[in-house]
Amino acid sequence: MIRLPISKRVYTETKPIFKPVSEWSYTYHSKYWVVRDIFKEGGLDLFKEIAKSYPIVDTNNHDEDHDHNPFMVHHLPYWITEPLCEAVREFVIREHFGQGPEMELIDERLSEWGNIYYRDECRPLVNSYIPHVDFPDDEGWIGNLWLSEHEEGKTTTNIYEYKGEIDQGRYDFQLDPRHQRYKEWHEWVGDGRNHTEGFQNLSGQKAFHWGFRQIAKAPCEYGTMTIYNGNIPHCPFVDDSVEYRWSHCFGFKYKSLAKVFKTQEVPV
Ligand SMILES: [Fe+2]
Repeated sequence: MIRLPISKRVYTETKPIFKPVSEWSYTYHSKYWVVRDIFKEGGLDLFKEIAKSYPIVDTNNHDEDHDHNPFMVHHLPYWITEPLCEAVREFVIREHFGQGPEMELIDERLSEWGNIYYRDECRPLVNSYIPHVDFPDDEGWIGNLWLSEHEEGKTTTNIYEYKGEIDQGRYDFQLDPRHQRYKEWHEWVGDGRNHTEGFQNLSGQKAFHWGFRQIAKAPCEYGTMTIYNGNIPHCPFVDDSVEYRWSHCFGFKYKSLAKVFKTQEVPV
């Protein structure tokens, strides 16, 4: 049987991975933060050891798979990720909302998942390179922790502006039959289980075609975390030379005030 490198009791009592948020150093780049110096001594290696003790739960490369995520999906137990999600939450509440961690948003939930890429096993949906939002039904923020090492620029997270309307994570070319690209989109995507061999990147031309404009490019720098609003359209860039890529997301989601008002609207 696999044993964790640290017991649950010691992990929970000592919080051995991240330093307190007040000690993180970071830079802001208009749409995202790059956060450095987040680990306690040995914290990064310990986190990787713990994470490797748990299996990938979805390889996302079978004919019937319909997840938009082009990568294999990994999850860790709540007791492992909870302090890390809470740290990202504390950072965002302080930096974005200008508040202390006691501030509460509506219907808050923590969220985590890992993205693992093996070049030779990647078989994503044909449309997986179209920018996506992480929380179609909510608002939310994510800290994406980079766990594989790469030469600068070989892989990034690209952030986009969409020129049309987005409703619950779906673009108007997906929803509105009058949209000039509606028919083309649905013919391309089919039943949502149309796979292709190998990871595909979004070219500037294709981005323009579907109404996106790239506004930022966040680096995937080993041992750093990129923190961003998960509901700004984004997608990974992965150069052909990259064989393996690993990151884990820690974050939180909540109901937007606008949506709460909308659902509470009662005709009188
Ligand atoms: Fe994402």
